[in-house]
Amino acid sequence: MHVTYRLSSSLILGVAAVSLAFAFWQTRADTQALRTDLENHARVLAESLAKSVEPPLQKHSTRELQRLIDRFNDREQIAGVAVYDATGQLVAMTSGFPWRAASDPALKSVPADGEIHMEFLKLGGSRMHMATLPLRNENAVIGSLVLLHDAGYIDRQALALWRRTLAGVLIQTLLIASVTLLTLRWGVGRPLLQMAEWLQQLRMGASAQAPEMPGEGEFEPLTKEVTRFATSLTAARAAAQREARLRNLAESSWTSERLRAFVQGRLGGSRLCAVSNREPYEHSHRGSGIECSVPASGLVTAIEPILRACEGVWVAQATGDADHETVDEQGRVRVPPDHPQYSLRRVWLTKEEENGFYFGFANEGLWPLCHIAHTRPTFRIEDWEHYQTVNRKFAEAVLEEIEQEENPVVLVQDYHFALLPRLIKEVRPDSRVAIFWHIPWPNPEAFGICPWQGELLDGLLGADLIGFHIQAHCNNFLDTVDRTLECRTEREHFAVTRNSHQTRVRAFPISVASDPPEARASGLGPELPHMERVRLLSKLGVGASFLGVGVDRVDYTKGIPERFRAIERFLDKYPAYKREFTFVQIGSPSRTHIQRYRDLMEEVTQEAERINRRFQSEGWKPIVFLNRQHSHQEILPYYCAADVCLVTSLHDGMNLVAKEFVAAQEDNHGVLILSRFAGAAHELADALVVNPYDTEELADSIRHALEMRPEERRQRMARMRTTVREHNIYRWAGNLIGELCEIRTAETPPVVTMPRKAVAKQPLTEEPMTEKALASHTWS
Ligand code: F6P
Repeated sequence: MHVTYRLSSSLILGVAAVSLAFAFWQTRADTQALRTDLENHARVLAESLAKSVEPPLQKHSTRELQRLIDRFNDREQIAGVAVYDATGQLVAMTSGFPWRAASDPALKSVPADGEIHMEFLKLGGSRMHMATLPLRNENAVIGSLVLLHDAGYIDRQALALWRRTLAGVLIQTLLIASVTLLTLRWGVGRPLLQMAEWLQQLRMGASAQAPEMPGEGEFEPLTKEVTRFATSLTAARAAAQREARLRNLAESSWTSERLRAFVQGRLGGSRLCAVSNREPYEHSHRGSGIECSVPASGLVTAIEPILRACEGVWVAQATGDADHETVDEQGRVRVPPDHPQYSLRRVWLTKEEENGFYFGFANEGLWPLCHIAHTRPTFRIEDWEHYQTVNRKFAEAVLEEIEQEENPVVLVQDYHFALLPRLIKEVRPDSRVAIFWHIPWPNPEAFGICPWQGELLDGLLGADLIGFHIQAHCNNFLDTVDRTLECRTEREHFAVTRNSHQTRVRAFPISVASDPPEARASGLGPELPHMERVRLLSKLGVGASFLGVGVDRVDYTKGIPERFRAIERFLDKYPAYKREFTFVQIGSPSRTHIQRYRDLMEEVTQEAERINRRFQSEGWKPIVFLNRQHSHQEILPYYCAADVCLVTSLHDGMNLVAKEFVAAQEDNHGVLILSRFAGAAHELADALVVNPYDTEELADSIRHALEMRPEERRQRMARMRTTVREHNIYRWAGNLIGELCEIRTAETPPVVTMPRKAVAKQPLTEEPMTEKALASHTWS
């Protein structure tokens, strides 16, 4: 039977049974109450009447007796009164007394116990209540009084109550049945039908828009799963189509599947181990539950697809306030939460360690040291000590994770872990260790101001392979090593040999996954970009024809105030764009424990407000600053709909926002304005490449972008999309891991038992700083 009918008939039966039981109980209670009322009334009346009739009965005054009881003729509900003498002879009765009953022995008998007797009985077919009371003279019984009440009304009232209840049950049942049927039809049937139609269309290959499905309550898990399923199906189909297309073109493309097969082949059964400070998934308390989010990080954007493709383990700092509640005893949790594909091993730092290592040495020291953005680096001895301690702590965690692996492959990420390669290799010389430096490497003079440059370089040279985004950073690194350490740098092979260990130095321009179907499957409608633009802007309370977008962590290297000032100049120079152009800056707060970052957030907010005050008018403003973290899904619609994306970094290793924007531009209509100081400018030559410090040039490039002929826009974007598609993150990982696995390492794996504490005892440098190093240090 149809589930709707099954559900409604069970409901009807249930409701009817409960209503009837309740009605039965109610009727019984009401009937009982009426009977008790009648009994009380009869008792009082019989006793008072007895007092009046006893004297005349004593005196045998029949006339007086008759006169007394005649007063009860025609009284409502009193069916009759009769008086008998002690022998049971009827002495007097009311005219309405059922005379046939008067001789009934049951009535004539005087109660033997001398007490009043009451009962309900049927007399002449009618329900009666009879009260029989002995009449006395002193203690002697001289007769009896019978008082009859008509009790038929009690049955009538019970019947009426039953009728009313049955009518109520009927109406309730009909009401419940119709409400249930309607609710099921509209609340369950319709969404299920729409979902089924949608899945059918997807199955048949149409790119149908997801229907509005209930996002809360019991439906939520189903809705989520179906959406994910549809997303995977769409992505898989698109990947297959792409593969087929590329096969036809005899091209070879890197996909997650190809990377997985490649890595499995190279690793020969060993697990890939990635290490970074930033974790890919953070668990935090939200209300009464725990929420999982992806932090704003280019590194996470890049590395996550590799781990998904290759499984393995990712070692990272635990930063969420609910992280410890979601891991096992070893500090591991399987992620992504919806579809676990690899392990995240969390490492806990104390507040002091985090302050010294992350905020202090890494982000107040190395970050401004490597980015030429005119913020002075700060080096404190305490921060350096914490940096060393935390590197050792991570080394212990990594060594634990690779304990069972033969010839493990470890990919260390970024400037937080310059000491890690050597710490790992000293304990596991059979491992292959690469470190990828996600930020620029400055020239030797700039790097030379770091008091611990020798130790950092020594730690890095423990690696078998060091990767940078561009060749210029490799060159700067080799120059720095050459000037600082005793070692042999082979420029023709891009390698450094120190204490018989060779480190290769290579450029691997990092990228994104570039899976465009994700954009459409993640909730974007099939609207044309201008419709999407209008929709997005009207949600922000702004009306404009052109949309510019910027997506950054609020960091002083990103050139956000420079960007805003260029927008101001653009509106001054080209006033026709007032009310026509709005720039949406998505800026996620970053490293806010550091004063410089707090000051920058203040500056960016005030600049936006100042410029808005200058130009804004009813329903329009030039800048919308959204200063909170946005998920990838929230950002995608902006990438897809924008006419222009501004990446104006003052200095940047690569900048993946530029590549994400290009990957999202399926219809090739947008223009990328890109700083020449971002690594991405080396690959995306079809962007409008600018100097972000040059306000005039930047303002003009915005106009150029908005007025560029559609054909030119399409051609430029199409070429950039080919570059990003072909040089995606899977190729990056394939090249990096391929190069690493070519390197021969110590052949014998060490004893499997991990000398945990051995790590703590290792000296950080094998050699003291050389004269050359000291000279370089003194120079700065
Ligand atoms: O760009 C350098 C980098 O470390 C990236 O690797 C990372 O995406 C970004 O900075 C984020 O920094 P943090 O992890 O400090 O928020």
